[in-house]
Amino acid sequence: MEKPLNYAPIEWRGNKVRLLDQTKLPGEEVYFETDDYREVAAAIRELKVRGAPAIGIAGAYGVAVGALKIDVTSPEEFRAKLGEVIDTIARTRPTARNLFGALEYLQKAAQSGRTVIQIKNNLVAAAMFIHEEEAEATRKLSEYGAELLKDGDTILTHCNTGPLATTGYGTALGVIIRAHRQGKKVKIIADETRPLLQGARLTAWEAQKAGIPVTLITDSMAGYLMSRGEINCVITGADRIAANGDTANKIGTYTLAVLAKENKVPFYIAAPTTTIDRGIATGAQIPIEQRSPAEVTHVQGVPTAPAGVAVYNPAFDVTPHRYIAAIITEKGIIRKPYTQGIKQALTVA
Ligand code: MRU
Repeated sequence: MEKPLNYAPIEWRGNKVRLLDQTKLPGEEVYFETDDYREVAAAIRELKVRGAPAIGIAGAYGVAVGALKIDVTSPEEFRAKLGEVIDTIARTRPTARNLFGALEYLQKAAQSGRTVIQIKNNLVAAAMFIHEEEAEATRKLSEYGAELLKDGDTILTHCNTGPLATTGYGTALGVIIRAHRQGKKVKIIADETRPLLQGARLTAWEAQKAGIPVTLITDSMAGYLMSRGEINCVITGADRIAANGDTANKIGTYTLAVLAKENKVPFYIAAPTTTIDRGIATGAQIPIEQRSPAEVTHVQGVPTAPAGVAVYNPAFDVTPHRYIAAIITEKGIIRKPYTQGIKQALTVA
């Protein structure tokens, strides 16, 4: 597999999964290994591993390590216990479609195999397959997306969508990394992405590692820059895309999309087709994760608000498809009307 950068956010190593703890970046590059599915579930919940494709991959390996430890000989008993493992992983984070697609794939993989050993082998192979497919999809979509970027472009991006979030090239950041590697002189404006600062901590770190000029701004500065003509386009990733193109992504994405429209700046979504949820018609049906108030009242453990203040902390918002100029996938670039384009993309092999 072509590796864009020299760090590996998720690796399968001798029946264990090794994760890069993203909560410690950029200060420390700390890896930890586990063969305990509950630890994988906790890592997803605590954002040690995060980003829609990476959540799907980690979830798949979580099921694999959980399956390997089930100590029964009857396939029926095994499948019942596997159900508990899958449920635990499914209850971690509700928004990213990639997690549920991966779990459905593993559930199916567990149906074939006559012995417990065969089923366990199937599950490990299925998790590795999901990992390869997700990474490969970002390699392809980054090539399609790079066609939209011109030499000299300044691109605004939100949250973190690079190798850390995907294990491959990345989605939105992957497109930018690809354009940079093609020799285009592109620059990144990274939103810091409150409350958990994925843009400041992770995108700025990955852009520096990739050798791409990056300027960090607070989320509230984006409109000012767009109004001054300093942004050529906005690209973000996605956690779940409805059949009509409505897209859930990190909180603040919708604000950027509206600002982009007002300022006539193209707003693109980049995501593998595993992020598309063909089962839901519009963004109104996308489950939005609510997270702990402490993430808003504290910055890296330090209180920044009075104790007891009421807090609202939705982790994602939904951008209506009318604001999206194109959806960049590994099957090609999808344009309006999205319902038709998405259906077509999902039927292409
Ligand atoms: O809460 P996070 O850090 O998991 O949120 C991640 C995002 O919103 C990303 O933009 C999205 O998952 C796409 S990752 C390629």
